[in-house]
Amino acid sequence: MAVVTGARRGIGRLVAEHLLAGGAQVVGLSRAADAVIEHPAYQHLAADVADDAAVRAAFREIARRHGRLDLLVNAAAVLTSQYVLLLPGGKAEEMVRTNLLGPVLTCREAAKLMTRARYGRIVNVSSMAAVLEPPGDAVYAATKAALATFGNVLAKELGRVGVTVNTLGVTAYPTDMLAALPADKVAAVIAALPIPRAATREDLLHALDFLLSESSGYVTAQTLHLGGVHA
Ligand SMILES: NC(=O)c1ccc[n+]([C@@H]2O[C@H](COP(=O)([O-])OP(=O)(O)OC[C@H]3O[C@@H](n4cnc5c(N)ncnc54)[C@H](OP(=O)(O)O)[C@@H]3O)[C@@H](O)[C@H]2O)c1
Repeated sequence: MAVVTGARRGIGRLVAEHLLAGGAQVVGLSRAADAVIEHPAYQHLAADVADDAAVRAAFREIARRHGRLDLLVNAAAVLTSQYVLLLPGGKAEEMVRTNLLGPVLTCREAAKLMTRARYGRIVNVSSMAAVLEPPGDAVYAATKAALATFGNVLAKELGRVGVTVNTLGVTAYPTDMLAALPADKVAAVIAALPIPRAATREDLLHALDFLLSESSGYVTAQTLHLGGVHA
C-alpha cells in the first residue's frame, strides 16, 4: 500500500503508475479532485498537503480503507523561479508551505501507520537546486535543502522501528514544472551536470525502487542525487 503526493501530474503521476504496475495499491494526493489515473487499485484524494486538517482527514481515510501503509513518496511541490528582490511574499510562502510543511505533515501521518506495523519506506523528492543553488531559486532551493535535513532527523526518530526516510535529488525531467522555466536556463544547467543530460523515466524509477525496496532497510537518512550532482 503506497501513498504518492502530487500524483495527478509529472513525477508523482509517473511514480504512482509505476507502483500500480508493480501490483501496489496506491492512494494519490493532490489539490484537484479529479483522478487522472484510471486503475482499479488507485484512489485519488483531494488534499492540499500544506493543510493540516486535510492531510489528517486523508490519512484517516487511508487508515480506514487499508489499515496499513508501506510506502510514502512525497512528490508534490511548487516552484516560482524569480530573483528574491522580485519574489512576491505569497509565492515564497506557497513554496515553503507546499515543499516543506507538506512533507512534514504527510510524513507525520504516514509514520503513525508505519510505526504501528514496524515497517515503512519514505522518499521525499528533492532537487538538484538544493545543491546547485541557482540564482532565481533561492526559496525553492532552501525548501529542498530543508526537506533533506527534515528527512535526516526523522530517519533518526524512526530508525529503531523499521521505517527508513531518504531523499531523492532529481535533475531535469520533462513535466509542467520544468516547462514553466526558461528553456535556455534549463539547458545551461543540464550542460553543466557531470552527466550532461536530463533524467529519464528509467533513471528516476531505478533510484526510487532502490530506496523503496524492502532490501534497503539499512539505508536511511541519505540523499541520492541523480546525474552526478553532489553536495
Ligand atoms: N521536473 C523536474 O525537472 C524536477 C527537477 C527537480 C526536482 N523536481 C521535483 O519533483 C517533484 C515533482 O515535480 P513535477 O515536475 O512533477 O511537478 P509538476 O509537474 O508541477 O506536478 C506537481 C504535482 O504536485 C501537485 N501539487 C502541487 N501543489 C500541491 C499541494 N499544495 N498539495 C497537493 N498536491 C500539490 C500537483 O497537482 P494539483 O495541481 O492537482 O495539486 C501535481 O500533481 C517536485 O518535488 C519537484 O520539486 C522536479
